[in-house]
Amino acid sequence: MGRTILVADDEINIVKLIERITSDEDYKIVSASSAEEAIKLMNKMAFDLVVSDLALPSMSGIEFLNYAKANYPNIPFIIITGYGTIETAVEAIKHGAFHYLTKPFQKDEFKVYVKKALEQAELYKELNILRNAVSSAASFENIVGKNEKMQELFQLVKRISDSTSTVLIEGESGTGKELFSRAIHRYSSREKKPFVTIHCAGIPETLLESELFGHVQGAFTGAVKSRKGMFEEANEGTIFLDEIGEFSNLVQTKLLRVIQEREIKPIGSNHYINVDVRLIAATNKDLKVAIEEKKFREDLYYRFAVIVLKIPPLRERKDDIVPLCEHFIKLFAEKNNKKITGISPQTLSFLLEYSWPGNVRELENVIERAVLVTNGETITPDDIPAEIKTYSTRFLSLLQAGEPLPLKELIDNTVSVVEKEAITNALSYTKGNRNKAAKLLGVSPRMLYYKLKRYDIAETKSSSEKFQNP
Ligand SMILES: Nc1ncnc2c1ncn2[C@@H]1O[C@H](COP(=O)(O)OP(=O)(O)OP(=O)(O)O)[C@@H](O)[C@H]1O
Ligand SMILES: [Mg+2]
Repeated sequence: MGRTILVADDEINIVKLIERITSDEDYKIVSASSAEEAIKLMNKMAFDLVVSDLALPSMSGIEFLNYAKANYPNIPFIIITGYGTIETAVEAIKHGAFHYLTKPFQKDEFKVYVKKALEQAELYKELNILRNAVSSAASFENIVGKNEKMQELFQLVKRISDSTSTVLIEGESGTGKELFSRAIHRYSSREKKPFVTIHCAGIPETLLESELFGHVQGAFTGAVKSRKGMFEEANEGTIFLDEIGEFSNLVQTKLLRVIQEREIKPIGSNHYINVDVRLIAATNKDLKVAIEEKKFREDLYYRFAVIVLKIPPLRERKDDIVPLCEHFIKLFAEKNNKKITGISPQTLSFLLEYSWPGNVRELENVIERAVLVTNGETITPDDIPAEIKTYSTRFLSLLQAGEPLPLKELIDNTVSVVEKEAITNALSYTKGNRNKAAKLLGVSPRMLYYKLKRYDIAETKSSSEKFQNP
């Protein structure tokens, strides 16, 4: 396969010489008489190798090299120069040049290095293909996970998707239970049929019953029209019952019947209707404890637990943090039309040390926010919330190692975590009333407003709800 080489030199004789030297090879030589012209060409077409003079007019060869390495890191770069010194050679190599040749160079010497450089580029290309293949193996149906346990779960999902057995997904909040349930549906032959989700927590019993099984007209006060339940809606498809730990005894009993008999009876109806649904249930509670406490029927548990997927919390699969960050950065950068290429090592070390009580959802939120607020192309510690930096064990390890502590940073972080918590508590106590909250906190309403903005505290709807609900 022919290779294309870009030669940047203001001396036309050198370009001619290179063309002559390589005339017995299958190379295509494209020349540029300045770095600026070469850059234009690089942005327009693909090259396999760049050969550039060090002393170019206006923009120097080293500057050109820097540009090329930043934008086309996989294209090898050979520097040539008329007045070689060791220092410039070292300089060029340090900036990422593949090799350095002094004029006049030998024909064979030149050819050998060009060949070597091209071989290396080829190797990089293969490596990249390999890397992409690996990273796609690190995800399954939008679920990112290279951790061994996650990989095992992916295999399990592939094996069990197409059966009709019920599945129980266990995992802390934000670990991806819903994501897994959708993957099971998509991977099954029911894929084209409905996938119906019902979040069971917080729905009153009668309403939940009617949601699930439907009702006939006049079945209860307010049932002015008959209504199809989710089981009928999901016929031939999949139903995802979220937080089954919250089911009342009555609903549990009815559900048991559905699983055993594959039929439902709408509220107020005398007839059973056959339904063909695949049931997937999720819980973030330990149902075994609920069974002990007689809050969950043991027989129902075993009906559900035919297949159990236990999703480990994020803190137990820290090897997934890097691929998840890459995934979310890409996702949110595209969504927000921003060019973000990565995350700084220091930021990453904070993320790796944090315990992630809100699991992947929390990480997703942190990255989304970071992508929005960052000014540069990489995410830096300034772009992530203070509590992630405070809880970091970095301070502890510095302390243990007897190294000086960045005291100011430590104090700032600690203060903001405490402040944030105090404000959230005060607002929840006053059901979102800012003036009362400010009084409680002993600050002016203006100061409170400023802090709310600064800490990006969500408006108090959720805290007041939390306050009224229990
Ligand atoms: N492995 C993963 N790869 C990519 N995204 C993930 C992964 N796990 C979770 N997410 C994302 O995190 C968020 C939370 O996931 P999901 O809703 O499935 O969690 P959950 O276990 O159902 O949480 P909850 O118990 O709070 O309902 C979603 O936006 C989801 O897309
Ligand atoms: Mg969920």
